[in-house]
Amino acid sequence: MIQDFVNRLDPLAQNSKLIIFGGGYSGQRIASAGRSLGANVLCSRREKYSQGADFIFDSDKEFSNEILEGATHVLSCIPPLSNGKDPLLSKLRSQLLNSRHLKWIGYLSTTGIYGDTKGKWVSEKTTPNPKQKRSIRRFACEKEWLETQLPVQILRLPGIYGPGRSAFDSLFNGTSKMIDKQGQVFSRIHVDDIAGAVLFLINLWAKGNNPQIVNVADDMPTSNLEVITFAAKLANKPIPSTIPFEKAVATMSPMALSFWQENRRVDNNLLCKQLGYCLIHPDFKSGLKNCLAELEIN
Ligand SMILES: NC(=O)c1ccc[n+]([C@@H]2O[C@H](COP(=O)([O-])OP(=O)(O)OC[C@H]3O[C@@H](n4cnc5c(N)ncnc54)[C@H](OP(=O)(O)O)[C@@H]3O)[C@@H](O)[C@H]2O)c1
Repeated sequence: MIQDFVNRLDPLAQNSKLIIFGGGYSGQRIASAGRSLGANVLCSRREKYSQGADFIFDSDKEFSNEILEGATHVLSCIPPLSNGKDPLLSKLRSQLLNSRHLKWIGYLSTTGIYGDTKGKWVSEKTTPNPKQKRSIRRFACEKEWLETQLPVQILRLPGIYGPGRSAFDSLFNGTSKMIDKQGQVFSRIHVDDIAGAVLFLINLWAKGNNPQIVNVADDMPTSNLEVITFAAKLANKPIPSTIPFEKAVATMSPMALSFWQENRRVDNNLLCKQLGYCLIHPDFKSGLKNCLAELEIN
């Protein structure tokens, strides 16, 4: 898979130093891809012994700023604080503002900021209409970043999936739920395409092509029923029985319910047509095949 990145993307400029704040699921994948393209990449985690912790950053604790020395690119994958402030800006605003080498700052946001469009398409031109508290906080962080006047690019992501975080996990541990809600779809993005898009956009930015906001979604918003059915067939597992949404609501966590209360299709025309990014996994079928293949290897 790493070879895919090397083949598809241009190397980053020489002496690039990418600092990733929040080296969790996406952050680690972006770091591997960045390293494969020759960049010096460092990832933060909050705990010293967490996998891939190159340095420690916890917005609640003291932080030594040396890590930012010589940084050419910074990516924040950290969600908003409960007070709606951005954790990185709360801690490092002045260091970032005074950093002499910074060419690009990426911020991983969510398509939740568009709110519920009853299944209609949303593009970067759609006026944000966040309704969930977490999306209101997220939109506030986007604004905070844009107001810094730093070279900030916001990447809005729908549901993230990939190896270790896919329909197979619940299918294999028997917790998969085929919830049937008429007309409901979800947009999604495979983690490799987050990594691919980040690196592609960094290179594009260097060429002077710098849209401030980019949706990073695949081509095919789909119902969960279709995704689970496809995963079950692929893995030779029985297809779980369908539960009507009205019945499933009773056992849903407030978080899960909040996802099912919004319905939208995320348009990726800017990224894929206008800017020219070629998705590694244009739809869930391609992405799930990859997830199963990685499960079989590990
Ligand atoms: N999951 C989705 O479907 C989805 C969809 C759209 C957007 N997003 C957003 O996209 C970004 C990346 O998603 P992900 O699923 O890859 O995230 P993730 O695996 O949950 O990673 C989040 C990272 O943020 C760090 N972090 C959280 N609070 C922090 C704080 N107060 N100070 C310092 N570090 C902190 C975590 O540290 P540790 O490593 O120590 O835990 C972790 O490295 C996140 O902002 C997420 O909210 C997610």
